[in-house]
Amino acid sequence: MLVLGIETSCDETGIALYDTERGLLAEALHSQIAVHREYGGVVPELASRDHIRKTLPLVEDVLQRAAVDKSQLDAVAYTSGPGLVGALMVGAAIGRAMAYALNIPALGVHHMEGHLLAPMLEDNPPAFPFIALLVSGGHTQLVDVEGIGRYTLLGESVDDAAGEAFDKAAKMLELPYPGGPHIAKLAEGGNPERFDFPRPMVRQGGLNFSFSGLKTAVLNAVNSCKDADGVVAPNDAVDIAASFQAAVVDTLMLKCRRALKESGRKQLIIAGGVSANTALRESLEAMVAKLHSKLYYARPAFCTDNGAMIAFAGAQRLAAGQCDDLTISAKARWPMDQLPPIAEVN
Ligand code: KG4
Ligand code: ZN
Repeated sequence: MLVLGIETSCDETGIALYDTERGLLAEALHSQIAVHREYGGVVPELASRDHIRKTLPLVEDVLQRAAVDKSQLDAVAYTSGPGLVGALMVGAAIGRAMAYALNIPALGVHHMEGHLLAPMLEDNPPAFPFIALLVSGGHTQLVDVEGIGRYTLLGESVDDAAGEAFDKAAKMLELPYPGGPHIAKLAEGGNPERFDFPRPMVRQGGLNFSFSGLKTAVLNAVNSCKDADGVVAPNDAVDIAASFQAAVVDTLMLKCRRALKESGRKQLIIAGGVSANTALRESLEAMVAKLHSKLYYARPAFCTDNGAMIAFAGAQRLAAGQCDDLTISAKARWPMDQLPPIAEVN
């Protein structure tokens, strides 16, 4: 089954072609970072307008590169939530309309399910069941995954998401948006032990996260390092970045370890933008090795938002016979445990 995937939930236009027999045929991504950078974050209306400009040209581009005519498509999958409603509406309207014109089925895909299944696009993919840590700009969740659509939420952030914490810490250090990769780069040369930032909610039981206290601690550190002109010296900034990253990584690692131990699962997958973080991957690799367990993640380009994960997640459900009616569906909020199950991945 040949599926066109369309991702427009936030600030990237991601388009891909996935075939259940042949795998990923082509994918294209347009990032809106340059559009939003001067505002320090995503401006929803600008995001929607840019998706309108980019979606159809990118669809043409992937079809051409895969040497596929649109008449050969078997189905269309588009992100229908959660995300920015205006941005989602662009991909949903284009995807649904294309499917209608071609008289093929269409399916609205859950963005976080797309992230969750992205490691399955790689060689040696994980097999169900596993524990998933979803860490993006909007979500921090630990999920027990028994199969597609068979999700039990084990814990989540009670305030900021991990990616949001990276972005806010980066702003305090006057680094560009989105901050995660910039903090990671800066942290490389820093001392992660210089600032004793809190590891929130690790002592109490449970699998929830909280990152707002850490944010305040970083702000205090930044202020205490400012000189008379309000400037933080570069050597202080690298240590703040390294200490902040270490606090986030430790917190995520400790909760993942607890989830693996409590569930008895032997596989951990990490997904979402923050799963591209090298320090996080290294810390989790060391932890799972001690538990005789295995860690799985996607290549960095498939950790952040992309069309391939939506084409892939959509293809699994469409191949199992699921599809939506003619309604163009865009949902700002959409709990993942409301998704219907399917049996097994192909
Ligand atoms: O999954 P994603 O692309 O979009 C959402 O669904 O939110 O995640 C974006 C988030 C941003 O907060 C960004 O700063 C963070 O992922 N991020 C990183 C890294 N790359 C992206 N955070 C830490 N280290 C990275 N290397
Ligand atoms: Zn995302």
